[in-house]
Amino acid sequence: MSITHTDAAPVYGSGKLTPTEPRVAQRKPISLPRLAELRARGEKITMLTAYDATFAAVADAAGVECILVGDSLGMVCQGLASTVGVGLETMRYHVESVSRGLLRTQGTAWLIGDLPFGSYHEGREQALRSAAVLMQAGAHMVKLEGGGWTAETTRFLVERGIPVCAHLGLTPQTVHALGGYRVQGRGDAAATLKRHAHELQDAGAAMLVLEMVPAVLSAELTLELPTCHTIGIGAGKGTAGQVLVLHDMLGVNLAKNPKFVRNFMAEAHSVQGAFEAYVRAVKDGSFPNDALHAW
Ligand code: KIV
Repeated sequence: MSITHTDAAPVYGSGKLTPTEPRVAQRKPISLPRLAELRARGEKITMLTAYDATFAAVADAAGVECILVGDSLGMVCQGLASTVGVGLETMRYHVESVSRGLLRTQGTAWLIGDLPFGSYHEGREQALRSAAVLMQAGAHMVKLEGGGWTAETTRFLVERGIPVCAHLGLTPQTVHALGGYRVQGRGDAAATLKRHAHELQDAGAAMLVLEMVPAVLSAELTLELPTCHTIGIGAGKGTAGQVLVLHDMLGVNLAKNPKFVRNFMAEAHSVQGAFEAYVRAVKDGSFPNDALHAW
């Protein structure tokens, strides 16, 4: 890893953090207009999860544009069987850690905090209180799972200045209701998923994670949703961007990696090298490939 501990801020010219380069941050901070710009010129948006200061700073230095402090931390950091057991205070702690890592290294990444199970389900006021906790810990945007009832909550948050990322398809917080980690949006379910996605865009969601849905469906939605950037995970290559869980793409996992994941560490000499390979592969369209998405 090439992050060094100096009092002065590291820089990004070569994609590596070294003490010898001029101490000027050369990259523009990622913002919603900047993400729209990337999309408008056909450049894929890159996102990775991170849960602590160091990994977040390394991902940022590798050029990852969006960092998601996902509630997947329940499974990869806490050893839980699902994300259902993750609480708001845990999310706050990890969002704050990641935010600190980015601030200390003059990181430019857009930071998204996951609202955990039970922290927004009671209604929009509860969602606002929970979102405020993550925003005050350093998040730039919050993510919430599900369609239908979440549109009203999304509108309420967006009207109050909180950018929202929606999440449809396989929504891990409802894994028990879905009957397992299965592909969603097949057959008749595609129309419902599409309706939910349009409602969320209309409510002001600026981003939409599509998890484990057919590639055709996510590609169609990407064309239909100009102001809501689709970010795929196991959803084919037709989305505006891609996200992977950090541990999965480094090939370190307590469980078997999902089929759609590529182990970028297997082809790299360092963690930062793996992140850089991921950014390159998403940008040049070589990840994901069709062989990884049989649905
Ligand atoms: O919690 C998480 O890491 C997520 C990603 C799988 C998108 O929601």
